[in-house]
Amino acid sequence: MPYAHITGWGMYVPELVLTNEDLSKIVDTNDEWIRERTGIRERHIARENEYPSTLAVRAGLKALDIANLRPTELDLIICATSTPEYLLPSTASIIQDQIGATKAGAFDLLAACTGFIYGLNMGAQFIRSGSLKNIMVIGTETLSRFINWKDRTTCILFGDGAGAFVLQASDEPGGVVSAVMHSDGSGANLLTLPVGSRFPATEESVRNNKHFIEMDGKEVFRFATRVMVQATNEALKAAGWTLEDVQWVIPHQANLRIIDSAARGLKLPLERFIINIDRYGNTSTASIPMAAVEAVENGSIKPGDKIVLVGFGGGLTWGALTAEWTGPLPDRRPVHPQRYRTLARVRSIFRRLLRFIEGIFFRREL
Ligand code: ACO
Repeated sequence: MPYAHITGWGMYVPELVLTNEDLSKIVDTNDEWIRERTGIRERHIARENEYPSTLAVRAGLKALDIANLRPTELDLIICATSTPEYLLPSTASIIQDQIGATKAGAFDLLAACTGFIYGLNMGAQFIRSGSLKNIMVIGTETLSRFINWKDRTTCILFGDGAGAFVLQASDEPGGVVSAVMHSDGSGANLLTLPVGSRFPATEESVRNNKHFIEMDGKEVFRFATRVMVQATNEALKAAGWTLEDVQWVIPHQANLRIIDSAARGLKLPLERFIINIDRYGNTSTASIPMAAVEAVENGSIKPGDKIVLVGFGGGLTWGALTAEWTGPLPDRRPVHPQRYRTLARVRSIFRRLLRFIEGIFFRREL
């Protein structure tokens, strides 16, 4: 049975930074309150012409670069997102076209902030079953588009960004070891973004703010502190590991106090947790891969390290995944995946043109 290795990683955040100080000019809040209650100092916000796919393509190409894999070699793109570019088509298909992953299937996965863990687990299962070899899993968000900037209880929390992993099959032991996924829809009302089939965009739904994130912060907090510990222990048990075996826990970055409470619950020093919430806020599905990428880049996570990813979110959903960090597979000449971006653009334009011309010549009266 092949092993599913994490062989590439990349992240991207928009340039625009919104500090707590900036927020205090928009709503009745202040830097001290936000830092003390959440650990957040600033977050990145997408500009008007930046979409989930824009961020994901940049993160994804970096991940391919590290894995030294051509986009054309990808079998599947799984895009976990809470803020899809459209309800239809999937953001994953847009990414597939823009990076030129001509052979890949593509779909979006909605499990709120737990989406990246669900996606990584699914990708690993495709590889373990032997049906696919190269998979990209992306978490990408432009949450700023769905924030009520008049609501100080939510607008201080969220930020935009993307993180991507490449999973590859190998006979060498390592990579993703175990995962647990959970859901409790009885708590669906605690964290919602109502716009959808129940509340399609109408004058009334917009007037009633149905296009903004609504949250019962206290209840979500209580739920999160409970399930972070529970899911970590379950995933460790499934892997046959104990906490002593693990070098790093990479938690969903929603609130520093939630991470702190999980650390106390697991009796693990906070230094063993990867934390970057201060600079990015809660980026939902992107938060875990973004934290992992930074930790690899600053030398904290090294090949051979055992890690646990753990997250929770709307749904309610929660889950955890264990993996042994490996890095790129050896023995390949550099393939420079970034160069494929221009080729992908030309290909996409050419295919649209072809479809247009075919339409003129072959359209039949029905
Ligand atoms: N600035 C200043 N004061 C504020 C602010 C603010 N931004 N927001 C609330 N307050 C006030 C409240 O009005 C309240 O005042 P009062 O005592 O006079 O009524 C006081 O501060 C305390 O408010 P609480 O709601 O009790 O603050 P709490 O400590 O619970 O922190 C928070 C609120 C940060 C939202 C916290 O509950 C939390 O982080 N919850 C979890 C949220 C979360 O993780 N969501 C994401 C889930 S993942 C996903 O799927 C997207």
